[in-house]
Amino acid sequence: MPRWDWGPAGPPSGRPEVSAGAADDEPEQAAAPAPGPGEPVSFAAHVKPLFRGRDRQSMTFAFDLWSYEDVRAHAADILERLAGGSMPCDGAWPTDKVDLFQRWAGSGMQP
Ligand code: HEM
Repeated sequence: MPRWDWGPAGPPSGRPEVSAGAADDEPEQAAAPAPGPGEPVSFAAHVKPLFRGRDRQSMTFAFDLWSYEDVRAHAADILERLAGGSMPCDGAWPTDKVDLFQRWAGSGMQP
């Protein structure tokens, strides 16, 4: 997976302005059931719903977590942060969610 070129300044490090609200903890739409072995993983049905409104709002200073193009472009860095547990910064994802993102990233990043 190609690495995103963050430019001379490197990845963002400033703390974003985030307003807390109940809707922020919800994804835009409910996730489809996890695809079975050998079934395709799609961004729209399976990956986008993994990102809460709060996640999207927190990261708009770097990219849009509800945008297929943005997540595809940053997939390697996002996976590294998810697998390492450093993001989301308010609590690491459970293994099955990280595995689903990794499956999507490793199977051609279907839209
Ligand atoms: C390339 C990958 C990423 C980078 C470089 C990155 C970087 C950052 C930085 C610099 C901050 C602000 C300061 C801090 O708390 O460290 C932050 C905050 C945050 N990020 Fe990320 N992040 C990445 C991916 C993600 C992903 C994939 C999610 C969600 C699944 C996420 C969710 C959040 C949240 C919820 C906050 C906290 C906002 C707050 O409450 O202050 N980030 N991120």
